[in-house]
Amino acid sequence: MRARLPYRLQERHFVSWKQSQHLKMEFVKPPDRSNRAAWLEGPSGRCTPQPGVVRRLRLILLGAPGVGKGTQADLLRKHLGACHLSTGDVFRAAAHSICEPSPAMAAALDFMRRGELVPDTTVWEMVRERSQCLHCRGGFILDGFPRTLMQAESLKKLMEDEHIVLDAVINYELPLAEIVERLSGRRTCEQCKAVYHITRQPSRDPGGCDRCGGKLLQRDDDCPESVKVRLETYERSTAPLIQFYRDLSVLLPVAATGSPEEIFARTAASLEAILHG
Ligand code: AP5
Repeated sequence: MRARLPYRLQERHFVSWKQSQHLKMEFVKPPDRSNRAAWLEGPSGRCTPQPGVVRRLRLILLGAPGVGKGTQADLLRKHLGACHLSTGDVFRAAAHSICEPSPAMAAALDFMRRGELVPDTTVWEMVRERSQCLHCRGGFILDGFPRTLMQAESLKKLMEDEHIVLDAVINYELPLAEIVERLSGRRTCEQCKAVYHITRQPSRDPGGCDRCGGKLLQRDDDCPESVKVRLETYERSTAPLIQFYRDLSVLLPVAATGSPEEIFARTAASLEAILHG
């Protein structure tokens, strides 16, 4: 008997063989179409117009801090042409903005430095004012959002109201010791935000970014005290989302062991499996 299909995927299973081969080809074609201006800056930001996209995926990435969601989102973005929407990146962009942060944003940045979750109301206000990004023509990869049941319920309602189809929720799984090792060795480019690891994914030039030459820094919330709080917070507030999305039949568990390319290959295979039955 065929496994239960994700709640919004049924229509995709009624495609001809020829169409399905076409979808497959698009999946491996590497378009790179999104610059995230509207996501990072909010309603004042304008993304560069994108050429026509004939196929798009809308995905949520779940998993503990440091499991590699950002690394996989970057690979998925390159292969799918989908926009990488990370709530953590919005907060970090606000922290480095030359504009004075609003009182709510200043409070949010304090929560973030301590490794605690930013309050739901602040996060939801920020996502709502960027809800046009969910209509991005290339699709989207949500990374770090939703993170609580309230956020997940609100997103579900918004997507239903705006007739946006969620294709899948990928849940990356990794033992705790490996997560801590990944977080403690992470370095991020000050300019382009490319992510490295001091031993696992080192840049060719130690201390400098391979893409833009920017300085590589350790994130404030990667200090041991904040990492401990982030992992406890994940267990308490975010892990229950696994069951939430399992109940909606959209959950795809993926082992996050091995190299980023191996994990990406597993992710792509899971997506192919649900898209092509
Ligand atoms: P956010 O930026 O979302 O951080 P996070 O979820 O804690 O995730 P990370 O960015 O730490 O890790 P990742 O899974 O992306 O791993 P990465 O690919 O970098 O959130 C930060 C904060 O903002 C939160 O704590 C909270 O305060 C606030 N916030 C954000 N969204 C919120 C929301 N919705 N609600 C409330 N608060 C919110 O990889 C990690 C390291 O491992 C890197 O060094 C990488 O090079 C390395 N690596 C990756 N893959 C591999 C591999 N396969 N093998 C070896 N090393 C690898």
